[in-house]
Amino acid sequence: MLKYRLLYNVLVCVLKRVSPLRIRKKKWAQPELDACPYYVAEPERYRGGWSAFFGNDRPIELEIGCGKCTFIAQKALQHPDTNFIAVDIKSDMLGVGRRNIERLFSESGRRIDNIALVTFNVEMIDRLLSDSDRIRAMYINFCNPWPRKKHNKRRLTYPRKLMLYRSFLTDDAVICFKTDDDELFCDSIRYFRESGYTVSHVTYDLHHSDIEDNIMTEHEQMFSTEGIPIKYLEATPAAR
Ligand SMILES: C[S@@+](CC[C@H](N)C(=O)[O-])C[C@H]1O[C@@H](n2cnc3c(N)ncnc32)[C@H](O)[C@@H]1O
Repeated sequence: MLKYRLLYNVLVCVLKRVSPLRIRKKKWAQPELDACPYYVAEPERYRGGWSAFFGNDRPIELEIGCGKCTFIAQKALQHPDTNFIAVDIKSDMLGVGRRNIERLFSESGRRIDNIALVTFNVEMIDRLLSDSDRIRAMYINFCNPWPRKKHNKRRLTYPRKLMLYRSFLTDDAVICFKTDDDELFCDSIRYFRESGYTVSHVTYDLHHSDIEDNIMTEHEQMFSTEGIPIKYLEATPAAR
């Protein structure tokens, strides 16, 4: 049954000429982002000084591959004393994300003062953040699994990237990683360990685990509706 449902979803995407992980071009996205006070057009300017962007010294957390931003919006609403940087490589995705953030904040009657939206390729994330930014938590939710061996290095959990992340994470920082993909999950446990991180809170079925306060992402909603268990872990970097 599950297999047919998945096949059906893929077929719908093929007929609509979009990949299940792709987004159609949105002409309005970039103009809306350019007019948005918390969209950072030249983010490299803030490297080492993100507190100046937020105008305060609150701790900073980061989501990479944030997609349509419903996760980061809910996080930012739940934690008004924390600043959040949300990064995605696609402006079209962030355009949809901005609208979701506006909607969720307006439903809560709160002003948006703890989010920065950034279009950036994580491959070069060390140009965006330095150890002075003291990132204390980082979220990697449902990154593309890149299953072909020759593409594995594009994964957001690949060891080269984990070493880059180490350069701006505090010693007690935590990376929270969620995926639907078994192979990516198993490989990532190995990547984290090989890169000197300590892995904890490993579960192969997050929604039936004792981990509390989970915030569902868009992909998490989709995969769990299809009956696919969500895999989750936390990783802390080795002390410098
Ligand atoms: C499968 S979606 C997951 C979106 C969201 N995190 C969720 O759980 O619903 C993966 C996201 O990562 C973004 N992405 C992929 N490679 C990236 C990269 N190198 N740098 C930044 N974002 C990237 C994609 O544009 C996409 O929005």
